[in-house]
Amino acid sequence: MKKARIVFTIFIFGIFLTGCKNESDDYTDPRGTDYAGSESCVQCHQKQHQTAIHSGHFKASLPATKENILGYFANGKNTFVYDKNTRVVMEERNDSLYQVLYKNGKEIKAYPFDVIFGFKHAQTSGYWKNHRFYELPISYYKSINNWATSPNYSATKPDFNRKIIKECFACHSSNIASKYVTTASTETYTFMGMEVDDFMNKNTLLYGIDCERCHGPAKKHVQTHLKFPDLKKTQNMVSFRNLNRQQRIDACGLCHSGGDHTKLKSRFQFKPGESLSDYFKENQRSKDTLNYDVHGNQLGLLSRSKCFQKSQTMDCITCHNPHQDSPKSYVSYSKICISCHQNAQHNAVTLKTISKLKLTNNCVECHMPKQDSKAIRFQQSNSSAVTSYSLRTHKIAIYPTAKK
Ligand code: HEC
Ligand code: HEC
Ligand code: HEC
Ligand code: HEC
Ligand code: HEC
Ligand code: HEC
Ligand code: HEC
Repeated sequence: MKKARIVFTIFIFGIFLTGCKNESDDYTDPRGTDYAGSESCVQCHQKQHQTAIHSGHFKASLPATKENILGYFANGKNTFVYDKNTRVVMEERNDSLYQVLYKNGKEIKAYPFDVIFGFKHAQTSGYWKNHRFYELPISYYKSINNWATSPNYSATKPDFNRKIIKECFACHSSNIASKYVTTASTETYTFMGMEVDDFMNKNTLLYGIDCERCHGPAKKHVQTHLKFPDLKKTQNMVSFRNLNRQQRIDACGLCHSGGDHTKLKSRFQFKPGESLSDYFKENQRSKDTLNYDVHGNQLGLLSRSKCFQKSQTMDCITCHNPHQDSPKSYVSYSKICISCHQNAQHNAVTLKTISKLKLTNNCVECHMPKQDSKAIRFQQSNSSAVTSYSLRTHKIAIYPTAKK
């Protein structure tokens, strides 16, 4: 149904925050009263909690404090030069952090770092203005340990006006509510399906991907186990062990299968056990398998591997502990490869290129090589060279030459 043009608008503030609180604790979750919050899990699941809170998932978005920002603010390391008259300087002022635009040595405007996205390889930041969120033009990249242009931004002209829409939060956070728009004439809380995608209530932001983002609402689970501490069997909680392969894959594919699909429902509504086909519809772009990018589409690439197609069991958890970042060494991955490939034989040519030890310890280097992203590129200060972001491909295959 085509949406009616809205002439007069009213903005309704955080209505879902008014739900009644449980008298036994004073935590209120912006997602609603079905949610208990990650801190409530620690008393019974210390092991998962201890590792998960330090993982990339929990840090997929963070408040932009000095501790959380990886880039430098010290003189000499904090300036991006656009041209001889124009520069952006990363500055700390009274405990707040800014990207400050200078023209001919004169300050034009200081834009605050409010929220950061990303942790493992790169960090992009943004600032709030009137319930909209705008990306800052300079980001930090670990591969160069330096600031450079935000993905696909110009290196000759700073742009502070690019909006970061709710979609980014839907993959990088656990909650943010849209502000809703209704027509003035109705003055009711019926939303009429008119959700405005770039208009958000920042007070409802839950940073990072938390326990319940992956496991679903857990308030009842917590209450039951608190009340009956001797119960050993899981109550009121979806068990991944009881999900079939497709359901397990979908729970990760929600955020790891790229952004090209036609969206049917918000990613925020997804609960484990649900089917992604209720959320996404294939279209021309999402079906363009040859152009799947190494950034963001691990599921798409993995699905193109023989390992995935020919085995009955492979899913993301085969190789990844969902509560922990990937290990630094590839030996542990090789063990997983070998568990299915005890009899893998390499021919004389391959064997000659590498020692036996390396061949058995580093399957990943050759069969999941690093590849350049076509979606993400950046430029460094005072440079016209365009650098690609590179990640390991999840299309496990035989490659002629592997990039180290
Ligand atoms: C009062 C104790 C308690 C609290 C608090 C608690 N759980 Fe549990 N949970 C259990 C028990 C007991 C089990 C069953 C035994 C086990 O797997 O540890 C369980 C099992 C689970 C499972 C495994 C499901 C399965 O069968 O595979 C998940 C997932 C889980 N809890 C998530 C959470 C999350 C998320 C939170 C916080 C929002 C939480 N739990 C808080 C007691 C608790
Ligand atoms: C709500 C979205 C979302 C879901 C669901 C999700 N991820 Fe992620 N995942 C992300 C984002 C965003 C990052 C990037 C984190 C960062 O900033 O470094 C990430 C990072 C990762 C990483 C890299 C972490 C590291 O530092 O080594 C792995 C591995 C991963 N996810 C696997 C999984 C698996 C397996 C599942 C399913 C059990 C899953 N993800 C579910 C959004 C999600
Ligand atoms: C469809 C889900 C999805 C959307 C939408 C999305 N991201 Fe991501 N993003 C990811 C995943 C998954 C990763 C980590 C793995 C990778 O790079 O493939 C990631 C990585 C990143 C990283 C690098 C983090 C790291 O260290 O790995 C940054 C920065 C980032 N995203 C910012 C954004 C911004 C800004 C937007 C909106 C313009 C956005 N993302 C939209 C899923 C998403
Ligand atoms: C990125 C998604 C994701 C996040 C975030 C996450 N989990 Fe899990 N969790 C899973 C998956 C997937 C499994 C099933 C693992 C398996 O079967 O091997 C799981 C399994 C569990 C289990 C069952 C025992 C085990 O370790 O397999 C418990 C308990 C649990 N999670 C608690 C938590 C708690 C508590 C948090 C937050 C501190 C959390 N999880 C965060 C995805 C996630
Ligand atoms: C769950 C089992 C499983 C795991 C784990 C696994 N594979 Fe496979 N892999 C398979 C199966 C099944 C095939 C198809 C064999 C066939 O066609 O006879 C395959 C095929 C391959 C091929 C041939 C690909 C081609 O295009 O011809 C390579 C190379 C390979 N795997 C490497 C790896 C590496 C490296 C790892 C670890 C990163 C790995 N596999 C993990 C099951 C697995
Ligand atoms: C056969 C093993 C295997 C499977 C299955 C697998 N991965 Fe990975 N994954 C890896 C390896 C190896 C890396 C590289 C780790 C590194 O370089 O630190 C990786 C890295 C990642 C990263 C971080 C990107 C980067 O380059 O740092 C994400 C995100 C990720 N995997 C998500 C997934 C998701 C989602 C699935 C399921 C669709 C999945 N993986 C299935 C082996 C696997
Ligand atoms: C130096 C790069 C390199 C390393 C390291 C490497 N491979 Fe290979 N692999 C190749 C090449 C090249 C081929 C194709 C030519 C051949 O068979 O030697 C191949 C072929 C394969 C095949 C398909 C042939 C068959 O026997 O079915 C499998 C499976 C495989 N490798 C698995 C592995 C596993 C598992 C590891 C880690 C224990 C590994 N490879 C380590 C380069 C490598």
